[in-house]
Amino acid sequence: MKLLVTGGAGYIGSVVTAQLLEAGHQVVVLDDLSTGHADAVPEGAELVRGTLREKAAQVLQGAGFDAVLHFAAKSLVGESVEKPGLYWDRNLGESLALLDAMREAGVDRIVFSSTAATYGEPERTPILETDPTRPTNPYGATKLAIDAALTEFARLHGIGGVSLRYFNVAGAYGRFGERHAVETHLIPNVLAVAAGARESVSVFGEDYPTPDGTCIRDYIHVVDLGRAHLLALEACTPGRHRIYNLGNGDGFSVREVIEVCREVTGHPIPTTVGPRRPGDPAVLVASSERIRTELGWKPEHDLRAMVGDAWTFLKSRA
Ligand code: UFG
Repeated sequence: MKLLVTGGAGYIGSVVTAQLLEAGHQVVVLDDLSTGHADAVPEGAELVRGTLREKAAQVLQGAGFDAVLHFAAKSLVGESVEKPGLYWDRNLGESLALLDAMREAGVDRIVFSSTAATYGEPERTPILETDPTRPTNPYGATKLAIDAALTEFARLHGIGGVSLRYFNVAGAYGRFGERHAVETHLIPNVLAVAAGARESVSVFGEDYPTPDGTCIRDYIHVVDLGRAHLLALEACTPGRHRIYNLGNGDGFSVREVIEVCREVTGHPIPTTVGPRRPGDPAVLVASSERIRTELGWKPEHDLRAMVGDAWTFLKSRA
């Protein structure tokens, strides 16, 4: 297939682009490089630099694309609370520009990067796709609004859409991994301590109602996540919008993650305990039953593999 990947110079977009190329697809990456890196775009993919508003219509028109995979977004929860307007503009606004460009160009399939943040504070775990969506921050609210837009575009314009609601993505795929200018995620921050780049990692809160008092998350390897995109692409059905959670279904506490990082790296990892981070739910674990049953997806990598691959990636860039 001929595919447009928005945000293909970012962490997850670059991994999925590599997987799509390996599967024999032709890929054009559209990325404004505001957070991504030109050298992260896999060889064999064409890079067009620009925003979706600037370039999506121009790239798609008359070019014979079969589908779009839409990763481009602002994705920091904390920043979204400080700058909600920026998030609504860049996430929802740019996505609407993309959907309009697709419609005008007659491209009717899209796989979209949604998030567990659409659910907010869950009433129960594991979280099902049918559970209430009450985002607790603008980041999650913008992604939920895009999901709603996709439902409408499916119903009214015949688009075939699949939204994948990612839980905590980790790991790397060869030379493609996390290279955020501002790193907020747990595993890369812990590994930076193991690598000697930071003195200690701060545990954000030890008074949650969990067995060891730290937050529990559902970690999924970026390679397993990527495979789900290839399945989702095949599953896009005109006129239908499907939503799938993507997680391993196992919860690990912050303390447990740090312990796995110690074991995998063989380095001591000093910790300090800080206050809770605003907006962090105590437990977020996915039920991925729907994608397992409907698309036959299943995760193949455990937390140890995620940490191992992220560690190999980090050392290769040192
Ligand atoms: N944490 C620490 N110390 C750190 C970094 C994180 O204790 O230095 C804790 C957090 O408080 C949280 C857990 O580690 O309890 C995981 O935090 P991450 O920042 O790695 O991931 P989040 O669960 O906050 O966020 C992820 C995605 C978001 C998405 C969210 C859904 O990165 O994009 O899940 O709730 F919105």
